[in-house]
Amino acid sequence: MGSRLNYLLLNLLLLSVISDAEGPQRAVNASVTAILVFGDSTVDPGNNDYWPTLVRTNFPPYGRDFPDHFPTGRFCNGRLTTDFVASYMGLKENVPPYLDPNLSIEDLKTGVSFASAGSGFDPLTAKISSVIPLPKQVEYLAEYKNRVASAMGEQEAEHHINQALFVVSAGTNDFVINYFTLPIRRATFNISAYERFIVDRAVEFAQALVDQGARKLVFTGLSPMGCLPIVRAQKGLDVGCVDHVSEAARDFNQLLQEELNNLQERLASTNGAKFYITDTYEPLNNMIQGPGSAAYDVVNRGCCGLLGTVEFGPLCNKDTPVCVDASKFVFWDAVHPTEVTYNNLFEAMKPTIDRVLRGS
Ligand SMILES: *[C@@H]1O[C@H](CO)[C@@H](O)[C@H](O)[C@H]1NC(C)=O
Ligand SMILES: *[C@@H]1O[C@H](CO)[C@@H](O)[C@H](O)[C@H]1NC(C)=O
Ligand SMILES: *[C@@H]1O[C@H](CO)[C@@H](O)[C@H](O)[C@H]1NC(C)=O
Repeated sequence: MGSRLNYLLLNLLLLSVISDAEGPQRAVNASVTAILVFGDSTVDPGNNDYWPTLVRTNFPPYGRDFPDHFPTGRFCNGRLTTDFVASYMGLKENVPPYLDPNLSIEDLKTGVSFASAGSGFDPLTAKISSVIPLPKQVEYLAEYKNRVASAMGEQEAEHHINQALFVVSAGTNDFVINYFTLPIRRATFNISAYERFIVDRAVEFAQALVDQGARKLVFTGLSPMGCLPIVRAQKGLDVGCVDHVSEAARDFNQLLQEELNNLQERLASTNGAKFYITDTYEPLNNMIQGPGSAAYDVVNRGCCGLLGTVEFGPLCNKDTPVCVDASKFVFWDAVHPTEVTYNNLFEAMKPTIDRVLRGS
């Protein structure tokens, strides 16, 4: 590969924006047995540390505000949305990566993440970054089920999976890297055809999880991707968010909602699987360019880096200048939110989690 393309990949490889966080409150009703997570860097707590890829962040300053300042492999200074969700549900403080070889059966039972930074619904997306494809994440789920079944028995394990909360967060890499940055997909798909293609892959993935026993599934919608620092920077001067990129997120979110509703109807008479979509678009947009931005000093570049518009992954490392107080930044690096942003996104997601817990 040419060095220019390498540079591009290094810079653009990853991800999405989702999530959120929180602490002391607990949901009243813990009818959910576990949290099982799939997707990309927005919800990968470090699986890539155990996978042969350069798409990793198991080094400082990542994890700077994590307990013990430990760089777990999360693409963040601290915790992710799914960590806040797990503690809200009273399951555990943080969701560990499934590939961590040291997990106890108790760790497994309360939930893990199978997600891999750089992954996406388009099979080509994971391939480009040499990360864990979604179908492989489903294979790991099947293996997880066997491990849990060997501890609690097969029937109990089936029930355990049926009662687990599934969270899926992916799609940003498909659009930001694969479609808008690299030439291959654009040569075959116009943007609306690509949105349709990705939604179809998302529905297939949903069906694959249901086939493994998933019954409560939360999909996170795409964020205003045109506002990611790395995307804004492509315009040259920072004159604002790139609307045609965010527009793809809005259109995709609408399609996804429709298709998951259809799937839910098709499954109603067989297994009653329920799909929920959480909106990350409005909450994040509000933090970047609405009233929510008042809580931040900087909304258009990451805390990590001189520029804050290109640095993430290997380009955000121990020699990179980093801001003093990440909580004043919407973004931690050129692509990913700070912990405080993830926490705000969690707050926005809470009503959805409450609905799942109530089964409504
Ligand atoms: C928890 O949920 C179950 C089933 O949805 C319901 O019967 C029960 O009353 C709820 N408990 C609380 C404390 O809300
Ligand atoms: C697993 O646990 C052992 C013993 O506590 C520790 O030495 C080792 O570093 C751990 N490995 C990983 C990958 O965390
Ligand atoms: C995009 O592609 C689809 C399928 O190839 C085609 O039906 C549609 O007319 C195209 N839309 C535009 C705006 O070119």
